[in-house]
Amino acid sequence: MALSDLLLLGAGSDLASQRGVSCDGQLPPASDPHLKQRARVAREALGARALILGHHYQRDEVIDFADVTGDSFKLAQEAAKRPDAEYVIFCGVHFMAESADILTTKDQKVILPDLAAGCSMADMASAQQVATCWDALTELGVANKTIPVTYMNSSAAIKSFTGANGGTVCTSSNAARSMQWALSKGEKILFLPDQHLGRNTAVLSLGLTLGDCVLWNPWKPMGGLTPDQIRNAKVILWRGHCSVHGRFTIDTVHEVRKRIPGVKVLVHPECQHEVVSSADVVGSTEMIIRTIEKAPSGSAWAIGTELNLVQRLANNHQDKQIVFLDKTVCYCSTMNRIDLPHLVWAMESLVANHLVNQIKVDEKTAHFSKIALEQMLALA
Ligand code: 13P
Ligand code: SF4
Repeated sequence: MALSDLLLLGAGSDLASQRGVSCDGQLPPASDPHLKQRARVAREALGARALILGHHYQRDEVIDFADVTGDSFKLAQEAAKRPDAEYVIFCGVHFMAESADILTTKDQKVILPDLAAGCSMADMASAQQVATCWDALTELGVANKTIPVTYMNSSAAIKSFTGANGGTVCTSSNAARSMQWALSKGEKILFLPDQHLGRNTAVLSLGLTLGDCVLWNPWKPMGGLTPDQIRNAKVILWRGHCSVHGRFTIDTVHEVRKRIPGVKVLVHPECQHEVVSSADVVGSTEMIIRTIEKAPSGSAWAIGTELNLVQRLANNHQDKQIVFLDKTVCYCSTMNRIDLPHLVWAMESLVANHLVNQIKVDEKTAHFSKIALEQMLALA
């Protein structure tokens, strides 16, 4: 695929700066004492016309109004299961709303209550940067042996690139299966955009070595790599990371083990390799929840994932000792942008038949993205 085509695939759906921010100036103040009541009234007025989806990293005040909670994969599937819902109000981040739009019918409208709710990791790979990388691989003669594997946390433009080039989307729960599939189809993987998930899966699940992986820096010519480094690599990792999970360190793992004897460390695979390598259990958001649900009463857990989820787990499982792995790591600031005022504003606007903050992926981008998403579903 030529560079110009790739740029077209990415047009209009890529960077945070293109998303804009809008609330029509009507956002209710967070101090409004009637906010919850307004939310209840608007929710009731919308009835079955609206489906409200809430990602596990959302605030409690938003989760309280979600019809379904889940990880990004489950929520995309749930959206696809409800073709009768005119509106899908997505309480999560932009790439999740895009995936929901791709997997729902043409008539359904996906709403993101705050357009500034992006994902810093997804924004670390733009369509233009990926096109430049692919052109370099093509010139080296390795693109035809390389299968792109793209994490769900990516823009529709990058999923579209992946679908157009014979690759697959993956989530943190099926990354190993997706990478194995990719290596059965080609000789190399271009893993986008989370270097940590790619590295952790390659080394800890596929038995590859750190030396089999190279890191493509999109800000350097040729990704900062030599032609031989690229030719010899099994996995070309994109230099992206999660600004929340990437902050947990090995020192905090040592510190918590000293502080709480017998504690088990449970982390998301977006964490750094040394953190994941030293953890007791590693898993996706849904897996973290299941692990705590099944854990015996009295057991102690230090969890390295988003703080809203860890706090909810601690509140819901008071018979277990649950602590946040690193006190200096904050909430995911973009997930947290969706608060009750934004949800109320979105719902009241829809009740007044005023469509706001619709996330719409253009047809061409959606077509190839869907191929990559369906490839992932076929692997399951
Ligand atoms: P999930 O795919 O588990 O929903 O994770 C999304 C995410 O943003 C992790 O940081
Ligand atoms: Fe993106 Fe990380 Fe926030 Fe998840 S937690 S939405 S990967 S920035």
